[in-house]
Amino acid sequence: MSITITPLTPVLGAEITGIRIGTVTEAEFAAINQAFEDYSVLVIRDQTDIDDENQLAFSYRFGALEQVISSNPGGAGTEIAIFSNVDESGALIPPKDKRMLYNAGNQMWHTDSSYKPVPSTASLLSGRVVPPEGGETEFASARAAWEALSPEEQAEYEPLVAVHDFLYSRGLIDKTLLGEKDRKELPAVRQKMVRTNPVNGRKAIYVGAHASHIEGRDVEESRALLRRLTEFVSQPQFTYTHQWKPGDLVMWDNRAVLHRGKGWDESKYKRVMHRTTVAGVGPTVEDGQAFAA
Ligand code: OGA
Ligand code: MN
Repeated sequence: MSITITPLTPVLGAEITGIRIGTVTEAEFAAINQAFEDYSVLVIRDQTDIDDENQLAFSYRFGALEQVISSNPGGAGTEIAIFSNVDESGALIPPKDKRMLYNAGNQMWHTDSSYKPVPSTASLLSGRVVPPEGGETEFASARAAWEALSPEEQAEYEPLVAVHDFLYSRGLIDKTLLGEKDRKELPAVRQKMVRTNPVNGRKAIYVGAHASHIEGRDVEESRALLRRLTEFVSQPQFTYTHQWKPGDLVMWDNRAVLHRGKGWDESKYKRVMHRTTVAGVGPTVEDGQAFAA
């Protein structure tokens, strides 16, 4: 087997074949890492022997991993975030259950961990049980969208800082999902609205559901602008939709793409996803100054 990298759309996504994630060589890893920087979304199919151990080991090659936040219904304090509609006994969790409402937050366009002071670099999502229809994950290139803006628009957005807040975004679904304890763990944070990749210098619009408002601007007006930008980024020419098959591992660049899960018939089909998250290398802002992160 030798590694092949095949682009999926003109602006984002590539499929990698010819590797086993448990036994990736140094040369293969270098090619995968370069493809990650270039294509923003990597699809690695047929990893039917994937388990938490080899997913963690592969993920660690990209850097330190984040800990799961304590509100995650799939378990906190580990490096594997579980998004699942199956309970401990193997039964389907009813769609109206709080755990499912919490997971439904992933169906809004977002970028992982933008509500943390140091936002993540990458996420790796493994489909352990996938429904036969629905439950796709969509990705939108906020980098291609940035490059499509006029110089005037780029100059307007580049200095802006948005306030990102997990309690705000989950509150859009149900205000009672999170409480005081979560607020202590997750205070709102500031992020540059244009995030620069420190490896290749490429920029991307940095918005998504966790962005509550823009610092120094009217809250409602800034929400309207954040919505418009998310709509701009998620136009069809900037997107790739991943249809899950068993054994798929999909990795994406949280600096450069927005993503969202699509609904499926939760009362009929199981969907169990395990995610590892590569931590970022630094904040995007400090005292109003941009950091390359
Ligand atoms: C995630 C996520 C969407 C999905 O794992 O970060 O947003 O399709 N997942 O499960
Ligand atoms: Mn996500």
